[in-house]
Parts: sequence; structure tokens; C-alpha cells
Amino acid sequence: MARVRVGACGVLFWDEGNLVWDDYVRQRQLALTEDSQEVLRWFAQWRELDTADQLSPRHRAIADRLLQTGVLVLEHSPEDVAERRLLSEWQPWGPATRYHHFAARTLANSRYLEVWEDELHFAEKAVHDPAPQAAKSYPERPLTLLPKGRPDDAAWPRRDLLDVLYARRSTRQFTGDPVSQAALSAIVQIGGAPVEELDHPQVGKVLFKTSPSAGARTPLEMYVYVNRVQDLAPGLYHFAPLAGGLEDLGRTASADELLEAVGGQRWLADCAFLVIYTAVLARTRWRYQSRRAYRDILIELGHVSQTVLLTATAMGLGAVTATAVRDELLERLIGCDGVAEPVLGVTAVAVPRDPVTPR
Ligand SMILES: Cc1cc2nc3c(=O)[nH]c(=O)nc-3n(C[C@H](O)[C@H](O)[C@H](O)COP(=O)(O)O)c2cc1C
Repeated sequence: MARVRVGACGVLFWDEGNLVWDDYVRQRQLALTEDSQEVLRWFAQWRELDTADQLSPRHRAIADRLLQTGVLVLEHSPEDVAERRLLSEWQPWGPATRYHHFAARTLANSRYLEVWEDELHFAEKAVHDPAPQAAKSYPERPLTLLPKGRPDDAAWPRRDLLDVLYARRSTRQFTGDPVSQAALSAIVQIGGAPVEELDHPQVGKVLFKTSPSAGARTPLEMYVYVNRVQDLAPGLYHFAPLAGGLEDLGRTASADELLEAVGGQRWLADCAFLVIYTAVLARTRWRYQSRRAYRDILIELGHVSQTVLLTATAMGLGAVTATAVRDELLERLIGCDGVAEPVLGVTAVAVPRDPVTPR
């Protein structure tokens, strides 16, 4: 007699008093009765289906239904084979990563709104639930205004797109020379300032930047930890794209604290300035309640950080983007709420020890 077991690709959680089985691969959710829960516990190990009779005929009937719905899996069945294949591919990353990926995967029958439906939906929503601000600001903090508009690249050593793309390398060896405030300014303006602004009648200000942003929600914020920048005291700043400058947050970290916060990576702690990216989740969540939206925020980090890397390369500076940092410590340094505005990564920028030769 074939054996059955609880499927390996489900997650259990409590929702309003119900224990829910979330089959994240097929994206189906079932509320489990107490009897079903007993059946699941019974089949935590491979057992013959008939053994459910030992619980009660009612439990046996439930086991049959759970097998039909795929909560229980028959050994060597196509479902079992598919699960084993998925597990062998994803196992080292544990259930959380599988859950995150597959729950946010779009299926063949995923429904998308028509463009007009989407526009109507969020314009109506904005009436009773105003959209969050497109950018953050700390108006009570001292502001260093930065030159507005498109930076002047006349003196940059690389101005050709292909030259810049082919010259970019993650750079981890820096001199101790300071970087000019103009260079820092160009990097944060190009990475984070609006290139175009739209006053949407319902939604309010919408920003368009050099990087694409899902639904133009621009969830990313840039903080800058300054070590060696001309005319800027060391410490933590926030780049306020609408105010057009750096807000001095009045926070500093010792060299050891900074090193710990960047995961012990010396080249990040010793750079001239460190860009720290966070995401204000509410901006994206306001428009997209789909589980996929979180992926979009991470994708946006890739765009913005690449823009920062390429801008630094064009200016002849060295830079490296890193994610093996200690989010919690960086969030503490910034003073942001890691639940609502988590840290996503950093880019260190400085004068490179060995200037990259053209390729
Ligand atoms: C998402 C991501 C995370 C990274 N994290 C780190 C990191 O924590 N520390 C580091 O020194 N480099 C980090 N890097 C840089 C990579 O090591 C680097 O891109 C890779 O070695 C290829 O070299 P290249 O950038 O010169 O092409 C990261 C790169 C990416 C895209």
C-alpha cells in the first residue's frame, strides 16, 4: 500500500482564529479544522493512508480529501516527484526563501487589471486613502543645498556610455583622499533626484528618476554616511530629493561601530562616503497589495545602485555595492523603523587606489 505524507511545500499560519495551509506553489489556501490538523500531525511522517482509520472513520475521510486537495502527497506520485525536485533545487535556502519566491510568482492564470482599470482604481483609492509622500524629508534638520538640475560632466574622465559600462568594476581599494562635495552631489542627484515631476490630480506628486520604479512609486531613500567629503562634516545625512540637499541627521558612528554595521567589510567602512539605501514600503504598498510588489522594490535597488556605480565610474571614482551588511545596525544608525523602512544595501564610494584603465 502506498504511503502518504504532508506536502513539503506548504506553510501553516494563524489567520483570524483559523489555522491556514498555504500551498504556495499552487497558490491555494485552506483553513484547517481541528480534525484536519490531527490528520496532518498523523501524516507528518510517511504512513500508509489506511492508518488514518486508527484515528476514526471521520479522520480517514478527511485524509482522503486532503490527499485530493494536495495537502497530503502520495509517495512516488507526480506531485511527490515534483516536490522532491523543487526541494533539491531550493533546500539550502530553507522554507522562507521558497515561500517568498513561489508565493510571489505569477501563474498562467494570473489576472492583471487593464491600464484604465488600474488608473481608476488608484485614483478612486486616493480620495479616501491619500497616497504617501513620494519622498522623505527631515525639515527640522540643517540642510546643505546641492546644485539643482543635471550635473556638469564636462570634466569627467569617462563620458561615453560604453566606456563607463566597460570600465565599471567593484572597487575595494581606496586612497584616503577626500572626495569633492560636487562628486557626492552628482551621485545622489543622478541616483535619487527627480528628473521630471508630475502633479497627479488624485495621487499628488509623482517623481520620475533616472531609474525605473514600479508604478512610479519611488520607494527608495538614500542616506549618506560621510567619512571624507570636502566641506561636509563626517556623519550621517539624508538626501532629500525635493528639498534638493543633504539633511544633517546629527548622528555619527565610531569607526568600529561603522565597521560592525557593514558586516566587518573594511572597504565599506573606510570609504569616502557610504550610500545606504532604504525603502519606504508604504509608497509601493499603497498602489500594489500584490505579494509581488516586494520583489519590485528589490529590483529597484538594483537599478538605483547600478546608476550610482556607473556615475562614480564615469567620474573616475571607485565604488562597490554590498548587501552583506548588518541591516539592524544600519537601521539603528539611521534611526529608521526597520519594519516600515528597512535597509536594503549600501554602495561605498571613494578615490580608487588603482585607477581603472580603459577597456
Ligand atoms: C546584490 C549584490 C550584493 C553584493 N554584496 C557585496 C558585499 O557585501 N561586499 C562586497 O565587497 N561586494 C559585494 N558585491 C559585489 C560583487 O562581489 C561583485 O559585483 C562581483 O564580485 C563581480 O565583480 P564586478 O562588480 O567588478 O563585476 C555585491 C554585488 C551585488 C550585485
